[in-house]
Amino acid sequence: MRVDVVSIFPDYLAPLDLSLAGRARAAGLLEVRVHDLRDWTHDRHRTVDDTPAGGGAGMVMKPEPWGEALDEVLGERSTLVVPTPAGRPFDQATARELATREHLVFACGRYEGIDQRVVDHYASRVEVREVSIGDYVLNGGEVAALVVVEAVARLLPGFMGNAESLAEESHEDGLLEYPVYTKPASWRGHDVPPVLQSGDHGAIAAWRHDAALRRTAERRPDLAHPARLVGHGGVELV
Ligand code: ADE
Repeated sequence: MRVDVVSIFPDYLAPLDLSLAGRARAAGLLEVRVHDLRDWTHDRHRTVDDTPAGGGAGMVMKPEPWGEALDEVLGERSTLVVPTPAGRPFDQATARELATREHLVFACGRYEGIDQRVVDHYASRVEVREVSIGDYVLNGGEVAALVVVEAVARLLPGFMGNAESLAEESHEDGLLEYPVYTKPASWRGHDVPPVLQSGDHGAIAAWRHDAALRRTAERRPDLAHPARLVGHGGVELV
């Protein structure tokens, strides 16, 4: 997969060289390029913003530098990803979809956002996804782009050694993951649940499933469909 990120703060994307995305790059699964939007300005001040049409607070990113940048960076088969708090929620299903694309281009806005005509223009040429990583406001799309790239890169075929650990983690099955434990069996008076030390794989799977249901019902009632909140042996979990 190839990823291009356009931003006025290209240094913000430095973590893409590290950790997970860095490993995917080292393995040749991911090629990342970061671009400075100001390279597509032509005035002495390298201006990228202007006052909002209709008035109001803040500044809006001008369409012209974005048009020149995206004309150059986008290809026919690219997907344009625009992080914005006004986007559709980015979730594991979206990450899985984006992991199937060959080229993702991130347009990281700052200030009050990018002139909407940029998205409208490219939507008739390529797939465009305006995505939000959560119901809070960041100063720009850069951190959100890092989040999306990391969530997508770890799903690239050949990236994760252990496909099972992918399948069992939070959100892959629509539930939060069950709690996990390791040795020692007792730590500061807290014990690992005895069933996990029983060696009974059926009982362990049942316990984990019930724990995942209970946790999901408590923490994320929006994810927990009532019909699913019945554990093993018909136990009502909530
Ligand atoms: N830009 C600013 N806030 C954001 C958010 N919550 N998600 C995606 N992009 C953003």
